[in-house]
Amino acid sequence: MAIETIKWEKAKVKLIDQTLLPLKLKYIYTADIMRLWQAIKTLQVRGAPAIGVAGAFGVVLGIQKSKAKNFKQFAKELLEVIKYLGSSRPTAINLFWALEWMKNTAFKNRAKPVGEIKKILLKQAIKIWDEDRQICRRMAKYGARLIKNNDRVLTICNAGALATSGFGTALGVFYQAKNEGKKFMVYACETRPLLQGARLTAWELMREKVDVTLICDNMAASLMERKLVDKVFVGADRIAANGDTANKIGTYNLAVLANYHKIPFYVVAPKSTFDFKIKSGKEIPIEQRNPDEVTSVFGKRIAPLGVKIYNPAFDVTPHSLLTAIVTEKGIIKPAYQKNIKNALCG
Ligand code: MRU
Repeated sequence: MAIETIKWEKAKVKLIDQTLLPLKLKYIYTADIMRLWQAIKTLQVRGAPAIGVAGAFGVVLGIQKSKAKNFKQFAKELLEVIKYLGSSRPTAINLFWALEWMKNTAFKNRAKPVGEIKKILLKQAIKIWDEDRQICRRMAKYGARLIKNNDRVLTICNAGALATSGFGTALGVFYQAKNEGKKFMVYACETRPLLQGARLTAWELMREKVDVTLICDNMAASLMERKLVDKVFVGADRIAANGDTANKIGTYNLAVLANYHKIPFYVVAPKSTFDFKIKSGKEIPIEQRNPDEVTSVFGKRIAPLGVKIYNPAFDVTPHSLLTAIVTEKGIIKPAYQKNIKNALCG
């Protein structure tokens, strides 16, 4: 069974502190919205769908002590809470999608007493959590069709159970293929600077007994040139209406390499990762993170003092490099502009 990454338990959010993995499996329990904001910011909880779920639970934490006497007062507090949570990380659209759901739920129920609206918001957050679990399964069933016996597949970052409330997006495809009895192996890119591939994906796949080999990011080209990779599967943080896809920094490198070596390149993502309001990847906000993440590894400095640092957390892969996008509604192929609309906006 997939590890439980995030959950609502006894009026608190329970989440794995992913910064401690794989050395320690420790849960954080919090009823404090500021603590949750910090957990999102510092990647204690991370991965686009999991950040969305955390945001929904964060809204519940933020309004639960509200003393508002009417909807007008309550709405003012709610909008502040939503703005605050939205300031944690800018790229994964799932966060803003979940916050929008929570806001719309409150406004739809504005005629009800504030106490009642609070209960409805908790129910809505749990529904977002539960639906994410089911969506992972649906995506995985479509995605597993793309995996053949003896495939050697490559992935980056962590798009698994640790990135969702279910069993993952790209890694969910691997779990489903394994359940179907397929034999294959996975190369996990370590994913500098924060090593989500080495720390999280390798740990998660080993725990689920999936055959995994860890590589440094700069080893992918040589593997592909030696014909040791059959397919690439990655997750996504935001997909524009034309299919351009933001995902962990280094994903674009892999897409260019896969294209050069004629290796299929698949993105696995739920509908909540699509941003239908933006036409192309040029409009996706890219999070810039603390230079310390590049100059230090596990608190130990590895670069000279004073060196200039460039540290974007994500890059954008143009849709022309994608073979297909796997969603809970099916596998979307080019032409993306039209096919994304048909598959997801019907
Ligand atoms: O910075 P992170 O660890 O939150 O980045 C996560 C990724 O880039 C994942 O690939 C993406 O969120 C998809 S997770 C199902």
